[in-house]
Amino acid sequence: MLASGSGSNLQALLDTPEIRPHVAIVISDRPDAPALERAAAHGVPTETVLWSAHEGRDSFSATVAEVVEDSGAKGVVLAGFMRVLGPSFVTRFPDRILNIHPSLLPAFPGRHAVEAALRHGVAISGVTVHIVDEGVDTGPIAAQVPVRVDPDDTVETLHVRIQAEEHRIYPEVVTALVQGRIEVVDRKVVMR
Ligand code: GRF
Repeated sequence: MLASGSGSNLQALLDTPEIRPHVAIVISDRPDAPALERAAAHGVPTETVLWSAHEGRDSFSATVAEVVEDSGAKGVVLAGFMRVLGPSFVTRFPDRILNIHPSLLPAFPGRHAVEAALRHGVAISGVTVHIVDEGVDTGPIAAQVPVRVDPDDTVETLHVRIQAEEHRIYPEVVTALVQGRIEVVDRKVVMR
């Protein structure tokens, strides 16, 4: 699992009995990420890969891929990981990288998705779990949940409601991944 920030999704995943035994390592690009403390509290090994120690995306991605492979992990779960991994990383784990995004993709990809949705004035936003491909937030969709937008919502209040859904849906999809129940056929995700 890869995380850069608070790690509330990571926490929801580690608290899921079907998932926790399959978590080989938690990797962060930030040594001070609270996500690392959450992993350590669960007895999961952690490692930091610093962006600044690399010459660019390809070399950073190659190091992360090596750390993942050395851990024995066969799949990758992005839980608020704020770096885009290069194409060579994605092709090393074909259809076995999941990401969670705080909007109904393909609307509002990239950073600041909650703010962008609010600014646009949508009545409904939501959560998307998708397989990572070589684009940014463009991969096959595994699950989506709508979240209503209230007229007086701020980025914070809307993100709280979105995260409540994230913490429910991500464990479901990651459970399917660790149980080998996810397949991609013609860019469509099939979950058995
Ligand atoms: C989540 O809202 C997720 O959708 C986005 O980054 C955020 C991570 O939050 N990719 P947390 O670190 O899991 O609390």
